[in-house]
Amino acid sequence: MFITENNLFLLSTATTSLLLRVNEAKKLVCEYYGARLKDLQGAPALVRNFPVGQGTSLAVDEGQLSALSPDYFKSEFALAGKGDYNAPSLVMENEDGTVFDFLYSGYELLKETSLIRGLPTPHGGKEEVVFSFVESVMKATLRLHYVIYEEQDVIGRYVEIENDNEKPLTLHKAASLQLALVNEDFTLVTLYGSWANELNQERQLVRHGRFLNESFNGFSSNRHNPFFLLDSKGTTATDGRSYGFNLVYSGNHQESLELDAFSLLRIQCGVSPFLFRKILAKGASFSTPMAVMSTSKDGENGVSHHFQRFVNDCVIPLPWRGKPRPIVYNNWEATMFNFDKGKLVALMKEASDLGIELFVLDDGWFGSRNDDSHGLGDWQANLKKIPGGLASLAKEANKRGLQFGIWMEPEMVNEESDLYRAHPEWIVHDALHTPSKGRHQFTLDLSKIEVQDYVYTAVKGVLLSAPIAFLKWDCNRPLSDFPASSSSFFFDYMLGLYSVLNRLIAEFPNVLFENCASGGNRFDLGMLSYFPQSWQSDDTDSFERNRIQSGALLGYPLSTLSNHVSAKTSNQLLRSTSLDSKFDVAAFGVLGYELDLNDLSPLDREIIRAQILYYKEHRTLCQFGSFSALASFSEGNEARFEVTLGKEALLGYYEKLQCPAPKETRLIAAGLESDVLYHFCERQESISLKKFGHLLNLVAPVHLKEDGFLVNFLAAHRDMKSEQSEGEAYGSAFSSVGVALPQEWSGTGYNDQVRLLGDFGGRLYYLKAVEKA
Ligand code: DGJ
Repeated sequence: MFITENNLFLLSTATTSLLLRVNEAKKLVCEYYGARLKDLQGAPALVRNFPVGQGTSLAVDEGQLSALSPDYFKSEFALAGKGDYNAPSLVMENEDGTVFDFLYSGYELLKETSLIRGLPTPHGGKEEVVFSFVESVMKATLRLHYVIYEEQDVIGRYVEIENDNEKPLTLHKAASLQLALVNEDFTLVTLYGSWANELNQERQLVRHGRFLNESFNGFSSNRHNPFFLLDSKGTTATDGRSYGFNLVYSGNHQESLELDAFSLLRIQCGVSPFLFRKILAKGASFSTPMAVMSTSKDGENGVSHHFQRFVNDCVIPLPWRGKPRPIVYNNWEATMFNFDKGKLVALMKEASDLGIELFVLDDGWFGSRNDDSHGLGDWQANLKKIPGGLASLAKEANKRGLQFGIWMEPEMVNEESDLYRAHPEWIVHDALHTPSKGRHQFTLDLSKIEVQDYVYTAVKGVLLSAPIAFLKWDCNRPLSDFPASSSSFFFDYMLGLYSVLNRLIAEFPNVLFENCASGGNRFDLGMLSYFPQSWQSDDTDSFERNRIQSGALLGYPLSTLSNHVSAKTSNQLLRSTSLDSKFDVAAFGVLGYELDLNDLSPLDREIIRAQILYYKEHRTLCQFGSFSALASFSEGNEARFEVTLGKEALLGYYEKLQCPAPKETRLIAAGLESDVLYHFCERQESISLKKFGHLLNLVAPVHLKEDGFLVNFLAAHRDMKSEQSEGEAYGSAFSSVGVALPQEWSGTGYNDQVRLLGDFGGRLYYLKAVEKA
């Protein structure tokens, strides 16, 4: 909803309002961002009231507006040179100078939202308001675009700058969003990480000075995700005001927070100014990516729910909106490069028998690729490994009721490849230094049209070569050796990539594209605009995944998380966790499997088959429900996941380490209807006989050695079943005190009522409203 009167502008979503004002200095300022306002009545009382100037500040106009200083404006954009001494959100120059003073010239309300040239634009915006500002001395125009995603409670903002001067205009920085909030003793929540260690949550108080969350490796990066939250003092997961921000972009980004001595926090989000320089000739314009923001009174989960809905409704490609995702088998951790057709077909047989729906052939199927030093760029099947090529494999899969998918890393090339031998000039390089390699590979320079065409044609060729339903698009090294010839290389690379992706998804709308960059080195709203789901991490250990998924789910929905159950002993940590504990975490998102199915014991097979049946039964909830983290390992020994959808919920309970004297545990759920009675039922899990070690002798008729042949043999065929809690309780009970769960293993006795979780163990509970008779 948009209402305007007397230079006040109210932009509202279902539960939020942003009140903007054109002030006496003809600048746009934010007077309020919070709970929804019905209309503009009462709005004047929200306007910042500083009637006299302050200290060393410069006046806008000493004669007329002596009290008004740009230094204290709650500006929606800021440039240096006219008395605003906070970090500018826009930096530009032409040969006449660097001072630009844009003054308001009018606004326009668009009923149909516009597309941002060359950049992903979320769909489904209800209204778009464009404020224009003119710099009459330097001859330039600035437009601030606000897009209202009403039902999703999100406001999008981007900036457009046009040069109206014969003299070229150089942009050095162009933040997509600037917003000033009155300080509420904010805690900043960011997601930092590294390879196999993505999306750690960091909470810190916002202090005076400037804090930057930034990436420089060419991509949104696993180091600092562009998503962040600002929690007002006292905000928890479920209560209190929280503000959230993100950027629809996949390259270098910068989020800046600057708290001044007069209690204003200035927030900026946008492309990183690092090595950014865009030169605009007369008549040319530049548009930034869109930044998005939301706010809620219902704590971090409230904002998270808004973003989850926004991404599902407005970001992921329309053909995939709400569309169930298949259960995938991916051969990477099982085989790495070591496979042939026989091995793959054997895996397909098992996968199909277990109820898996799509078989993905990962790295190593093409060119001369038998390890990671060869073949990238040569996208023809290696017929020695796969006689008959991809079409014959797809046929084998389809014959067994499986769809077929493939891995590619289209942006990269190995020195040892036909492509590199033919086109060494296509790699990203500065033509001065020896270009650096990562994982033995170079990056193809997607800022070049001919390279874009090659990548597009290569991927298209693969997709047309067989009935391929799924493409995992990998990217295993960051950018380096930026070409000297390009002034905005990082940005142009992204435009090139987006252009290729636009063409591909338009041509193959039914292919499910999965994003991957060594796991999460490029997990962001830009990539999700083309890829409905994303491989989260090369760390498939379930405890680590619990942490990684909780981080991701703060800003992104379940449907975007591709989670695989891998072998019990994790490749990354060598930690051993049961298949059921792995499933308990992987079920929150899009489920897949990545272990050697031919190595499964009869019991493992039964366990996986039961998991798949369970997931299929609850797939909509697991992929499209509203996720809340009710407790997290970052704060204690316990993590609790919840997903709700209509009258249903799924709860995940996880324990880091088994305690010697466990406390009483209650089953707690938020987001249920208070007076509705819910039936709850625990998913029964398998407990390995080996878990009891030598204690098996307390019940065994013959003596058993802990690691002996007999124990191993028995454990491959038989297990113990976990306790199975079931009952009914009101929503109000779940959301306050919780429902009693059975006593946890305490080392003193065991029966079918004892809850044995062990280290890194978990349980799932399904809740459904009881239908009235
Ligand atoms: C990195 C990915 O994250 C893995 O899942 C796998 O696809 C490998 N690359 C293959 O090289």
